[in-house]
Amino acid sequence: MKRRSFFKFSLATALTSLMKPESIFGMQNHEISTREAKTEPVVISTWSHGIEANEEAWKVLENNGKSLDAVEQGVKITEADLSNRSVGIGGRPDRDGHVTLDACIMDERSRCGAVAYLEGIQHPISVARAVMEKTQHVMLVGSGAKAFALDYGFETCKTPIKEVKKDWKAWKKENKEAFEKPEINHENHDTIGMLAMDSFGNISGSCTTSGWAYKLPGRVGDSPIIGAGLFVDNEIGGACATGMGEAIIRIAGSHTVVELMRQGLHPQEACKLAVERIIDKHENLEGLQCGFIAINKMGQIGGFSVYNGFNYAVRTANGKGKLFDAAFDRKW
Ligand code: GLY
Repeated sequence: MKRRSFFKFSLATALTSLMKPESIFGMQNHEISTREAKTEPVVISTWSHGIEANEEAWKVLENNGKSLDAVEQGVKITEADLSNRSVGIGGRPDRDGHVTLDACIMDERSRCGAVAYLEGIQHPISVARAVMEKTQHVMLVGSGAKAFALDYGFETCKTPIKEVKKDWKAWKKENKEAFEKPEINHENHDTIGMLAMDSFGNISGSCTTSGWAYKLPGRVGDSPIIGAGLFVDNEIGGACATGMGEAIIRIAGSHTVVELMRQGLHPQEACKLAVERIIDKHENLEGLQCGFIAINKMGQIGGFSVYNGFNYAVRTANGKGKLFDAAFDRKW
């Protein structure tokens, strides 16, 4: 059996975790000590771009709004940020120059919606929500998703934006031989995944990205896939993922994190075990950065990544603009 098998943690560990609600890394502000306690709203999201997104989500949460509205409004800020090269319409294209966007959303009733390979629409997260609310489906992709968005009057836009097109042309010139081998985004950000708990104790999540820079046309990552990029079970908690989508899909990452929390693990430990499973499943970890963040029903949070460098933003009534470095398994 591998060193870090899924079953390595003992029942005793799980029970200890259940009995000790205090945070593994001392983030006392984000906690309430029992499931019966009054719920304090909290929103967490991946990377430093999450700080601004959290503030927008917080406007909803502090007015006793719903977590579903918070996670949609929050990530729309990132989607609209033209300087962001890995989320929304400022994102980098596939190798043929098409910016294809992926997003999903899930609420406390386990309702969910997703879009993938969507081009020229400003807010894929809102289209994902419309798929959830207006159709009987969970996911629409490509031209079907676009037609649906147009039918529902969503704002369109032209992509790639000028600066991104220039970079893409330069990349094509410099990467003639590597044209078949797209590079993962190595900037200090990737997907935005967001999880919010509102003052009713309900948890929702959202996830949105332009995906792997210069990916092969047709490639879809983890971000729009319920269970991979995002999963919420309002009985237990929620999780979302960032990084190399292929690796996250292989272990149904966010679902795995939630199921580990169901077994009594603290969100931090659950994220760590999911990352370890990714490590165990891959012989070559070169460039394979993945991370998870999670929240449970007690408002406890956690984050963990394969390599150092992943961080996540946290907003509570007590703390604004907080950014935490996630714990990690190894250094670059
Ligand atoms: N995690 C984003 C992607 O792989 O597309």
